[in-house]
Amino acid sequence: MSDLIRVLIVDDNEDMRGNIRKILSFESRIDVVGEAADGYQAIDMAAKYKPDIVLMDINMPGLDGISATERISLKCPYTSVIVISVQGENEYLKRAMLAGAKEYLIKPFSPEDINQTILNVYERNKERTTEVYAHKVLEQGYVQAPKVITVFSGKGGVGKSLIATNLAVGLAKLHKKVVIVDLDLMFGDVASLFNLKIKETIYHLVQEIERLDSESILSYLVETSSKVRVLAAPIRPEQSEMITGVHVEKIIRLLKETHDYVIVDTPSQLTDPVLTLEQSDFILLVNTLSVPVLRHNKNFLEILKSLSVPTERVRIIINRATLDTGVKIKDVKTALGMELYCLLPEERFVDLSINTGEPLLEMKASSRWSKEMNKLVQQIIAEDERAKSESWIKRFRLGRKRA
Ligand SMILES: Nc1ncnc2c1ncn2[C@@H]1O[C@H](COP(=O)(O)OP(=O)(O)OP(=O)(O)O)[C@@H](O)[C@H]1O
Ligand SMILES: [Mg+2]
Repeated sequence: MSDLIRVLIVDDNEDMRGNIRKILSFESRIDVVGEAADGYQAIDMAAKYKPDIVLMDINMPGLDGISATERISLKCPYTSVIVISVQGENEYLKRAMLAGAKEYLIKPFSPEDINQTILNVYERNKERTTEVYAHKVLEQGYVQAPKVITVFSGKGGVGKSLIATNLAVGLAKLHKKVVIVDLDLMFGDVASLFNLKIKETIYHLVQEIERLDSESILSYLVETSSKVRVLAAPIRPEQSEMITGVHVEKIIRLLKETHDYVIVDTPSQLTDPVLTLEQSDFILLVNTLSVPVLRHNKNFLEILKSLSVPTERVRIIINRATLDTGVKIKDVKTALGMELYCLLPEERFVDLSINTGEPLLEMKASSRWSKEMNKLVQQIIAEDERAKSESWIKRFRLGRKRA
């Protein structure tokens, strides 16, 4: 006898949810695990209950069904979304399928329609899911290629933007396609660190977010002389308010398609958009030899654990590591309980570089800071190579196991 199919019902209309629940109660293979009244609730409940199927209404207050479908498809690869819509919503339906829905049902539908659709989608996805799961199991301990790299610190002013921009330059110098996304949405200065004149920013981009694909998003990027592409932060702080985590998730997903590396610069607060760092392959956690910085970063590591983000993705950096502050390098290791990944020294040309908008790696390529930064670039590329070869070996093993 096969397992029960776990279903989550999402509809803002309570009567509709009740009707669907009633219909499904007559099918012995189906178990309704919950009901949600809007997209946000749906995302939370999908993460919590990990249903096999989500029945998703499209038009709902708060977060609509399309955005919720997109997020659930991304976060819960074992869950299939079936979209429920009324006649005449063809355009929406198309977008829902693009967002990752597996099937759709037009209202009104009969009990046979809904039961059969759920059973079909479940069976269709079972085989694929088993395969994905087998990969996951084999990939435990797998070194993820550092494609999306978020530079973060629990405290401001530690050198995040300096590191993010120069890392981008270093990777671009090695002919990697690099985009840097400024998620310091209120006070971002990536554009200024490259001395760029910006007309369009992430604020303009999100106005068109529903329509964007991996090609059209490129028109919002500005390229620097070092061939780094920049998605700038809004020009005015109040414009940051409308940018949500759902937007940022989509932006990063699209940019990944056309770049080798997506570097994300952040503010020191864990805002909703910044929480998409769950999507990062690497989190470069920037420290200085300062007790408050270490305290905040230790808290941040705890938060990551509570979000189930593996700490293996975190790489510890100490910036201004040559300053005499009373805190020693080994204290950082002890305080954070992690190995150190890179030490960048105090550097007297940093301010000149920031004020002129010329990245230090270009302005003073021979400085000690630039040399250490180049080592960081090499380390990241080496991790990429290692991840590729490990993934190849594991795929090979999986193939042999199946054969
Ligand atoms: N290695 C360094 N040597 C000397 N000064 C440095 C170094 N790194 C950073 N600074 C100083 O720290 C300042 C802040 O750097 P940066 O803007 O990169 O930090 P941030 O973490 O992005 O700050 P915010 O939280 O405000 O975004 C720089 O303007 C510079 O004066
Ligand atoms: Mg900054």
